[in-house]
Amino acid sequence: MIIPFVAQTQEQLADARDGMAGRVAVVMTMGALHAGHVRLIRTAHELADTVLVTIFVNPLQFGAGEDLDRYPRSLETDLETCAVELVDVVFAPEVEVVYPPGEQVAHQHSGALGDQLEGASRPGHFDGVLTVVARLLELTRADVALFGEKDAQQLELIRRMVADQPCLVEIVGVPTVREPDGLALSSRNRYLDATERADALALSKALACGAAAAKDGVAAVRAAAQTVLAGAPGVAVDYVTVVDDESWGPADENTRRARILVAARVGPTRLIDNVVLDLGTSGTAAG
Ligand code: PAJ
Repeated sequence: MIIPFVAQTQEQLADARDGMAGRVAVVMTMGALHAGHVRLIRTAHELADTVLVTIFVNPLQFGAGEDLDRYPRSLETDLETCAVELVDVVFAPEVEVVYPPGEQVAHQHSGALGDQLEGASRPGHFDGVLTVVARLLELTRADVALFGEKDAQQLELIRRMVADQPCLVEIVGVPTVREPDGLALSSRNRYLDATERADALALSKALACGAAAAKDGVAAVRAAAQTVLAGAPGVAVDYVTVVDDESWGPADENTRRARILVAARVGPTRLIDNVVLDLGTSGTAAG
């Protein structure tokens, strides 16, 4: 197995980048790689000549009391995954490499949408996400960057940030990868014990029931999802909401493409999931 080149400093990354021919894709991750990340890497190979993966647990996007310290770190197995997936270069920097002490890193602001939904529960989270994404785009000089629809609000905010800036990177969204029973893959699923793992299924079930009610309109979608979650043991709902997938305002009777989003705490673990709904016809359009 050929282990990909691992750059740990900005200089090593810049040298590796200078040697890359053709179109370069970046898949940004916080490590603890799973089949969702692998789907992003495989899609990257389809779209580019060279694939770069970043592995960096970004402290700026964790709030006080969140899981920064215990976030799963598994660089060795992650590098094996990257090798199997024929990743060309892995950028796995320390915090000081991304945010050198004394150097002013441009902080990004996620605006009004960044304060809603995930942002309402995690103040400053999306500013931290956008700041590291902008930074990694600058350091990798990627032509295309891939992000999962699993984190739909993150993807939307990244699209908006890039649209507002004179950088030419293409942002590609990749559908959510799920376990056979429907649970969306997430690095945080590792925190779940067997009971919580079973309880966590309520999120994807709620989305499926919501989607099944699409022909009856937005209110029915929301109610169906809420009913599933209300009846789920061990699940403390943070929000269940249906937004217009373009404006991200509340979906209404004029909305054609909507997104149901759910966030809930299962035991101590906060999980999110979402699904797109085509209200123009009926049912789920994509994951
Ligand atoms: P992380 O949670 O490691 O996710 C890295 C990428 O994998 C994100 O684009 C995320 O949406 C995608 N992903 C996660 N689970 C997925 C699944 N089940 N199916 C498809 N894609 C999935 O998201 C982050 O890291 C960070 O916020 C980051 C963008 C790297 C910035 O620090």
